[in-house]
Amino acid sequence: MCGIVGYIGHREAYPIVLKGLKRLEYRGYDSAGIALYDGDEMKLSKTKGKVVDLEKRLESEITTNGTVGIGHTRWATHGVPNDVNSHPHYSNSGNLVIIHNGIIENYEPLRQELINRGYSFTSETDTEVLVNLIEDVKTKENVKLGKAVQIALNQTVGAYAIAVFDKNKPDEIVVARLGSPLAIGVGEEEFFIASDASPFIEYTNNAIYLEDGEMAVVRKKKGVKVRKIQDDSLVDPYVQELKMNLEQIEKGGYDHFMLKEIYEQPNAIKDTYRGRMRVEEGIIKMAGIDDHIDKFLNARRILIIACGTSWHAGLVGEYIFEDLARIPVEVEYASEFRYRNPVIYEDDVVIAISQSGETADTMAAIKLAKERGAFVFGICNVVGSSISRETHAGAYTHAGPEIGVASTKAFTTQITVLTLIALQMAKKKGVISTSDFFMHLQELERIPEKVEKALEASDHIKEVAEIYKEASNCLYLGRGFNFPVALEGALKLKEISYIHAEGYPAAEMKHGPIALIDEQMPVIVIATKKGHYEKVVSNIQEIKSRKGKIIGIVTEGDVTVKNLADHVIEIPETMESMTPLLTTIPLQLLSYYIAVMLGKNVDQPRNLAKSVTVE
Ligand code: G6P
Repeated sequence: MCGIVGYIGHREAYPIVLKGLKRLEYRGYDSAGIALYDGDEMKLSKTKGKVVDLEKRLESEITTNGTVGIGHTRWATHGVPNDVNSHPHYSNSGNLVIIHNGIIENYEPLRQELINRGYSFTSETDTEVLVNLIEDVKTKENVKLGKAVQIALNQTVGAYAIAVFDKNKPDEIVVARLGSPLAIGVGEEEFFIASDASPFIEYTNNAIYLEDGEMAVVRKKKGVKVRKIQDDSLVDPYVQELKMNLEQIEKGGYDHFMLKEIYEQPNAIKDTYRGRMRVEEGIIKMAGIDDHIDKFLNARRILIIACGTSWHAGLVGEYIFEDLARIPVEVEYASEFRYRNPVIYEDDVVIAISQSGETADTMAAIKLAKERGAFVFGICNVVGSSISRETHAGAYTHAGPEIGVASTKAFTTQITVLTLIALQMAKKKGVISTSDFFMHLQELERIPEKVEKALEASDHIKEVAEIYKEASNCLYLGRGFNFPVALEGALKLKEISYIHAEGYPAAEMKHGPIALIDEQMPVIVIATKKGHYEKVVSNIQEIKSRKGKIIGIVTEGDVTVKNLADHVIEIPETMESMTPLLTTIPLQLLSYYIAVMLGKNVDQPRNLAKSVTVE
């Protein structure tokens, strides 16, 4: 996720683009850049760091008061965050300049082709490939910029929101979108381009939101012409009147970042597996694994180290690895691991999981594992973070920035990466049949749409939240793959509503927590069809006979639990190993609504921090 912004009109572009970037910084902030047209030449400036760092640099560099400009604030996907990889990117001739939010999956073959045709690249980005592809098409076919963009995009696979400017045609900016948002603010002979409306809301209330697969040529005098990228057909653009305020727009219309991030999960999961699975061919391609496959295949065991929600994802990983790849797994709190003089073998594979990539205890545990000779693999969300640099290899989750302190999309995307690794190992070890492997890929591909379905229960979950919001304690139970989800559900409630909650393996309940159950105690039980269902039903009976209030998370169409529980929340059916990706969703929403109803600060709960860089 990155933020893109542009302006073409009669005002000075620089302050508009710069302020727009500040507003879009929630979308990513590892580097920023601006390109301005001074009436003759492009002036480009970019830097690693935040928009304020760019601003400082520009104080001395910007000399133009030109009225066309584009800007970018980056959340890295391809290439570490540094000055060179920052956007905007020039084409080889220096005529075209581009900003891009998204991932061009097939950039590598395109890059090779362009190198063969004499192009060279200064950055590691997929974006620089795209701008040169556009330039190549434009020269080869002798077409206008809009046409060249269209032809080039039809050769790409992936996701994008782009803005392209040609200094030889300075009265227009060409934009396009597929899978990443893009809004055009419509003024009087002036137009604004942005990832959301926040950069232009003070200038105009009129906006065109491009649909996926659409592109537009935005001309200062002639207005906006929208077409379908695939078949060139013209689209009559719908100019929408905006009624939202600035804060609402940054949060995409959601009340909180946490809610926005919960709803982003279908796309975030897609972004995680994008380019890594070829379902029809039955292939997983993950460079971080494939380049070190011997380490994984010869591993004595896998040690997973992490903190907080990432540790819970690690626990789900343990069930997945053992089940699919038949390898022993131990999951460790990084803080305990580093101070315990742990036994680490040189043929252990250590997987460190961290959303931020900055957690101090996880970092220290990685250093210890490396000192003892283990191979360390990182699963991080933030590209170029300390942990991603300290590990021998890794895979990013590509979930986009997570702003809400309570982690949501990081968890489900970490599980997605763990599933991909386990499947790849299982295949290479020969412990999964071809048909079973294929079925798993097919099902993983369907998960985003099932998450979407699970999110539809939101109104019902709100009603349940209303009933239990005054509870002082809450118990979460799950078995097998869903035991860690019970822990995660309880953590979410604690973190943001300050209600005491405990997660437990359902069968362990009778060894202690059952003593707490009375008519005041809500018990959330994950009772999906494929996870030891009958055993969990018996546990539900035990709660019921002690008058506990039961909220069942069940598979669509369930009858037995429905008859026993006070409330049920349904999720679509899926393979057992993938149920955590769905059962997590209602638990996130339940804690969210309870916290909102209690008036808590959902995005910044007391005493917590998004990234814990101290011991
Ligand atoms: C903090 C955050 C949690 C997060 C944990 C680990 O406690 O509040 O949401 O799960 O750190 O963070 P990491 O970035 O390493 O996943």
